[in-house]
Amino acid sequence: MTIEVNGRPFDADPRPGQCLRTYLREQGWFGVKKGCDAGDCGACTVHVDGEPVHSCLYPAFRARGRSVTTVEGLASPDGELHPVQRGFLDAQGFQCGFCTAGLLMTTAALDEEQLADLPRALKGSLCRCTGYRAVEDAIRGVRHTEVPAAGEAVGRNLPAPAGPQVVTGTARYTFDLDVPGLLHMKLLRSPHAHARITAIDTAAALRVPGVHAVLTHHDAPERHFSTARHEHPTDDPDDTRVLDDTVRHIGQRVAAVVADSEAAAEEGCRAVEVAYEVLPAVLDPEEAMRPGAPVVHAKDAATARISRPHDNVAGEVHGEAGDIAAGFAEADEIYEETFRTQRVQHAALETHGAVAWIDEDGRLTVRTSSQTPFLTRRALCALYDLPLDRVRVVAGRVGGGFGGKQEMLVEDIVALAVLRLRRPVKLEYTRAEQFYGATTRHPFTVHVKVGARRDGTLTAFQLRAVSNTGAYGNHGPAVMFHACDESLAVYRCPNKKADGYAVYTHTVPAGAFRGYGLGQVVFATESALDELARRLGMDPLEFKARNIIGPGEPMISTGGEEEDLHIASYGLDQCLAVIRAARAEPAEPGPDGWLVGEGAALAMIATGPPGGHIADVRAALLPDGTFDLAVGTAEFGNGTTTVHRQIAAGELATTVERITVRQSDTDVVRHDTGAFASTGVVVAGKATLRASRALAAVLLDFAAAHLRVARADCRLVDEAVAYGPGGGSRIPLKELYAAARAVGADLAADGHFGGTPRSVAFNAHWFRVAVDPGTGEMRILRSVHTADAGKVMNPMQCRGQVEGGVAQALGATLFEDVRVDGRGAVDTAAFRRYRLPQYADIPRTEVHFTQTADAIGPLGAKSMSESPFIPVAPAFANALRAATGLRFTDLPLTRDRVWLALDAAGTRAAEGR
Ligand code: FES
Repeated sequence: MTIEVNGRPFDADPRPGQCLRTYLREQGWFGVKKGCDAGDCGACTVHVDGEPVHSCLYPAFRARGRSVTTVEGLASPDGELHPVQRGFLDAQGFQCGFCTAGLLMTTAALDEEQLADLPRALKGSLCRCTGYRAVEDAIRGVRHTEVPAAGEAVGRNLPAPAGPQVVTGTARYTFDLDVPGLLHMKLLRSPHAHARITAIDTAAALRVPGVHAVLTHHDAPERHFSTARHEHPTDDPDDTRVLDDTVRHIGQRVAAVVADSEAAAEEGCRAVEVAYEVLPAVLDPEEAMRPGAPVVHAKDAATARISRPHDNVAGEVHGEAGDIAAGFAEADEIYEETFRTQRVQHAALETHGAVAWIDEDGRLTVRTSSQTPFLTRRALCALYDLPLDRVRVVAGRVGGGFGGKQEMLVEDIVALAVLRLRRPVKLEYTRAEQFYGATTRHPFTVHVKVGARRDGTLTAFQLRAVSNTGAYGNHGPAVMFHACDESLAVYRCPNKKADGYAVYTHTVPAGAFRGYGLGQVVFATESALDELARRLGMDPLEFKARNIIGPGEPMISTGGEEEDLHIASYGLDQCLAVIRAARAEPAEPGPDGWLVGEGAALAMIATGPPGGHIADVRAALLPDGTFDLAVGTAEFGNGTTTVHRQIAAGELATTVERITVRQSDTDVVRHDTGAFASTGVVVAGKATLRASRALAAVLLDFAAAHLRVARADCRLVDEAVAYGPGGGSRIPLKELYAAARAVGADLAADGHFGGTPRSVAFNAHWFRVAVDPGTGEMRILRSVHTADAGKVMNPMQCRGQVEGGVAQALGATLFEDVRVDGRGAVDTAAFRRYRLPQYADIPRTEVHFTQTADAIGPLGAKSMSESPFIPVAPAFANALRAATGLRFTDLPLTRDRVWLALDAAGTRAAEGR
């Protein structure tokens, strides 16, 4: 049979039951992406005879005799981009870009009528990164990108360097490569929340045709580790084995089957015979801390670094500043309440996965969807007793992370198989596995008690926070520390107390997720302060404004002052001024009969993690007079590659096109902690600044010596060094390179930053919402976000980060919920059961940036990737409180939950209660 793809005939027959998506990828059309394999996300959209189809649902054999177009065939034969491709480039209509091919194919097929109704037209197209505003602008032809002159890149709307590859489907993500002789891995997972494996028989599985190996706990190292990746491995408990003889949540790995095909590996999994001794399980963290509860990890506290294993406490935070009892005694008004946040999934469109092989030098090479290639290499070396130079870890373009890929969830088991078989092996999670085999946001229960004098001065601020870290403690203690820290420190109050517990249960593990615990606790604190202000008869925003810390004030949390943390720039006052101005503007009325209210919330976040975060960068002149910039950090849509080029271009007086970035590869620099904790700009960017500045000095020093002119008379101009009277003479950089080479000089320089000292960034959000009391339907009438990002290096891109963070937070505020049933099983393991925000769900948010310049960050910049998420849920809940008179304490604020509360309040009022 023949299928024509992008004008070329393909004669390969599909396998029985094969879908068009996998068929196309096997023919090398890697622009066709897998987001869900269930027709929910649209990432695999292609045209069949001009009609858009989800290729994951379309049987390949039905394409016989038809013409298929993928994103690679969307441009004209002479290479001219299709108008929608040009639109996505000009508007920067993507971040990670994993959804882009599907969006392009969907949009390219829309007629005028459909284009006029984008909420309907984009119903089957999910984007997890952008918040859809940039997508809409791309479709509407709004141009945002600029073309600045040499040396003027900083602060301008430069597009991502990978843009042309993203819109043509040639950007290479983790699995977009052809590896000869590749074997496929599938995982057998536990059906029990807690059980001991008493016997495991692999004989039948090994007899399945095509199966090469079945790995069980007998094959795994005895060593325990944490899947969390941190610069200091001691930040996390060592409670995990590659394969264990005890399972602690439904979905935990039990065995790995490696075979010629995914189908054979799946059949092998079904043939593995496992005998379990089922053990009692505990699913609730408060129950887990009670005496007699089943113990999740019966380990030695000191060696495993578990706070209190027999109480199921993975880590805890306790601290008091001042005298909390005296503070409450001093208060005229006290408010206390318990707030709860739910499990949320990262839902990056590219699932977790890795492909690994032994290279021609005999090195283990792992290509993985990771935010932390260097830390993953270090962990693999520790696990398998390998020297650092025998392992290489690389990341291609990563299709979204949001903290979820600050883990080693797949690389360890793939490496085990490769080391055993000496053959290339691939493991790619399904969308369902993302829900029960990856990590989630930590669900929190937070009891807040706050007191203030009648004049609105805070006197006491107390938290008791309990997080459910699930079956493993990856990130659990650190998330709890962070959650209790900046949430208290942003307010000036002499008496503070926090008690936090990260608690093990027999449920899917939680991990790092945008905001790292702050979003959960700030939902509670900002709601409680809003309520306290109302009880004092004060405007909630002005009450908060009265109590926030000011510039130069110490940031006191319950752990005392962190010595390397400073307010190196202060924009919180400007954030609040923007919100005051928005409130003062004439307001759009809500629909007739609806309740309308407005609310705000604010947040502060450190611009990097405590304990250091390392980036090494090397900048070098190339023979053609352009520059090479080697950075360790990964690009997963956070846009740091763009910013690194901008910083380097500014220092080297050139344009970004003349700077090539090599990244995400343990071979290119000495070390990089990774792209997490909002460090891509403030840490790796600072190392880039130092390397570029040092290279500029190297170039000028060499030019002065070579030309025998005064160093002070030399300066970099685009593609040359200018020298002589009035800078009238020039030596092109490529000539300079040749001159240096002739004398053996190296025109290169290194930059390093250790991530400390740190500054703080601020955000505030304001909503005006309307609620239908008859149905609970909610509508956002206006959404305003204001961010103190210091010097904004790329306003278009930074705005996208804010919008994407707000959109994710709105999903978590309104409906996203990873539900776990009474057995401990995730019962929302598909996009059609776990609802992600669609285009129609997300209103336009007005984004404002303050005018500040940070004394620590590179060129005055601060971080802005996690923090926009944090104030959204409390701002919405506060607006809902203003509209309805009801304080909602549990997320998500679903329509049925709101309606039930309104209905109950109405019943109480009618009955005079
Ligand atoms: Fe849309 Fe990342 S840019 S999913």
